[in-house]
Amino acid sequence: MRHLIDPMDFTVEEIDQLLEVGDDIIKNPQKYSQVCKGKKLATLFYEPSTRTRLSFESAMMELGGDVIGFSSADSSSASKGESVADTIRVIGCFADIAAMRHPKEGAPMVAAMNSPIPVINAGDGGHQHPTQTLTDLMTIHQLKGRVDHMTVGLCGDLKFGRTVHSLITALSRYEGIRFVLISPDELKIPDYIKEEILDKKQIPYTEVQSLDEAMPELDILYMTRVQRERFASEEEYLRLKDCYILTPEKLEHAKADMCILHPLPRVNEISVAVDKDPRAAYFKQVFFGKIIRMALIMKLLKVTPAPFDHEPENHGTECRDTGDVINHLHCDNPRCITTIEQELPHSFRMADEKSKTYRCIYCENPVQEK
Ligand code: CP
Repeated sequence: MRHLIDPMDFTVEEIDQLLEVGDDIIKNPQKYSQVCKGKKLATLFYEPSTRTRLSFESAMMELGGDVIGFSSADSSSASKGESVADTIRVIGCFADIAAMRHPKEGAPMVAAMNSPIPVINAGDGGHQHPTQTLTDLMTIHQLKGRVDHMTVGLCGDLKFGRTVHSLITALSRYEGIRFVLISPDELKIPDYIKEEILDKKQIPYTEVQSLDEAMPELDILYMTRVQRERFASEEEYLRLKDCYILTPEKLEHAKADMCILHPLPRVNEISVAVDKDPRAAYFKQVFFGKIIRMALIMKLLKVTPAPFDHEPENHGTECRDTGDVINHLHCDNPRCITTIEQELPHSFRMADEKSKTYRCIYCENPVQEK
């Protein structure tokens, strides 16, 4: 059974197929209006959401299916201490597919490991948000006509911004991509993204602090919110929250066809005056999010005719590593799902043999064997 937990769970060819189907859904919505009749999607949201939850629900309804779910941990039996593994086994008795958002990193992965139905990661802590990435790729594809050969600026909270981690992971598989990583020192991209994706694949990137200096070379500017909910200290958040504010003046030096994306919600980092700029694409992005989630639901439920009925047996060499797991190390990431699920074995995969670095299979936190 296929799940979508990490952008690397699909090959580039599969993602390209999703983009093609998304394009066809826009052109021929009627063709898809009943394909999920009799099927149910469960939205399991342990953390707040507007776009992701409602776009999943809207997507399933537009496919003719039904939706069940909860929108906060408080309104589910998680508040009584039910584990993620037990919850998904129960949900598997009610629904055909589930989308899960959770504040703890790796929770959707734990669900997938115990699930009788396909599980979609709808955002796990500061880790990954693969369906936002599909949304971003669809937006870029629709507006620029391609996903390759571009200079992509990612600006703001690159440390906790899960959408940034997933987007870099996904774009690094396309040719001619160059990243400009724009952030203050405190919010730089995690080392594991640099070492295991950018350096390993020799993707060109620069790390800078000035948005103004980076602006003229960008084809895509991906703005992000400073993730208040992930900070250990409110004081630190207040100090960094307005580190970048995009204004019409700042855009004077941008390319005429640059696309401004933002996963939303926006707080202060894009001035409302920018909304009138034809380069502002963040509300179009929300629409494409619903379309690509329709394509994704169809793929995982295998309800559509071609092209999804010709999936490769081997899901591709570029997919996520599924090598041997070891259990004698301990994950010390305070945001990892292992911190709240005491029964869950701490499990690791080798990341770098030379330095004896392992990564937690749930949250990807690195641990070195002594
Ligand atoms: N982009 C995004 O994940 O938005 P929500 O938090 O509203 O779902």
